[in-house]
Amino acid sequence: MSWKTIDDMDFKGKVALVRVDINVPVEAGRVTDATRIEKIVPTVKDIQEKGGKVVLLAHFGRPKGQVVPEMSLRVTLPALEAALGQKVAFAEDCIGVTAKKAVAAMEPGDVLLLENTRFHAGEEKNDPTMAASLAALGLVYVNDAFSAAHRAHASTEGIAHRMPSCAGRLMEAELKALNAALGDPERPVVAIVGGAKVSTKLDLLGNLVQKVDHLVIGGGMANTFLVAKGIEVGTSLAERDMAETAKEILAKAEGAGCAIVLPTDVVVAKEFKAGAESRTVAAGECGADEMILDAGPDTVDLIAEVFARCRTLIWNGPLGAFETPPFDAATTMAARKAAELTRGGRLVSVAGGGDTVAALNKAGVAEDFSYISTAGGAFLEWMEGKVLPGVAALED
Ligand code: 3PG
Ligand code: MG
Repeated sequence: MSWKTIDDMDFKGKVALVRVDINVPVEAGRVTDATRIEKIVPTVKDIQEKGGKVVLLAHFGRPKGQVVPEMSLRVTLPALEAALGQKVAFAEDCIGVTAKKAVAAMEPGDVLLLENTRFHAGEEKNDPTMAASLAALGLVYVNDAFSAAHRAHASTEGIAHRMPSCAGRLMEAELKALNAALGDPERPVVAIVGGAKVSTKLDLLGNLVQKVDHLVIGGGMANTFLVAKGIEVGTSLAERDMAETAKEILAKAEGAGCAIVLPTDVVVAKEFKAGAESRTVAAGECGADEMILDAGPDTVDLIAEVFARCRTLIWNGPLGAFETPPFDAATTMAARKAAELTRGGRLVSVAGGGDTVAALNKAGVAEDFSYISTAGGAFLEWMEGKVLPGVAALED
């Protein structure tokens, strides 16, 4: 793998088309987490320092090729301006006359944000005409959107073949960190896979059991595995029709010498709400009218022992319903253990996925991890060992 970086390119007086991922959470017209916006600052600043004009290309939500006013990128402008400490111009369209005029009005040092690339159907189709229209706006392409690199879209893939291209600073950092953790990791390796999206992650699990030494399964997905082992889970979230697939994964893990860690004790409640009355029981003792909402303390001890024996940790997905206390306990305790080992130089810890990052922030340990990815789906596909089209397109 080799790709150019900002250091290899000439930006003087040139328009740089910079693909960023500022697909941030918004509530009531405000950005509620500006992390992804803050992470693009080094790329913008470095291009400006080299005399370039920065045109930001980005998507927002899933408008499916239509102009959907609620999915306008305009909502990100205040957060962008705050992060960059400068005025950011905005164009109502990412291609055509509107975009061209806005670009023509730029001076070196200016930043222009173009409207949602997904307002055009050609974006997700990776339509060559769309890629050409985007490419026509500038002279250099910089991809800083690792978290959108699993999409082969016009602004993430097609455009890279049409002009001199390089990786932005965030893309560089993500690739370096993930290569170190997954390309050739120090063993033993433990992975934690949790969260509710069971059916989407079963594929990932199937791949991981061949690559890691220990696999901890948590969240709603663990319930499906308990069901597969004939353990009753009451009213818990579980994909009962996936039980056979779960069994196959357990068999595959055994064949590959990967030790699976499932909850041995669980926290159960009759209803799912903050502060709900709960009890901790052995995994087989969830009542017919109860649901599993978190892993129990014995399970956390087991996980901590595994961490202590490993050198590398890859974490995607919380162990319980961490957004709703007290069901955040297992995730928080395991995260603190990982942070402690990382601080002591015993563990390389890499985490990714929106929920995971939120959980680590909540546990107050995100700073202690070796690397936290800004990516969700792209991080998963990387963990699955897939080639990310946005990254492949940058390779020489
Ligand atoms: C994300 O938020 O995961 C990325 O921005 C990609 O968005 P998408 O899943 O809609 O392609
Ligand atoms: Mg996504």
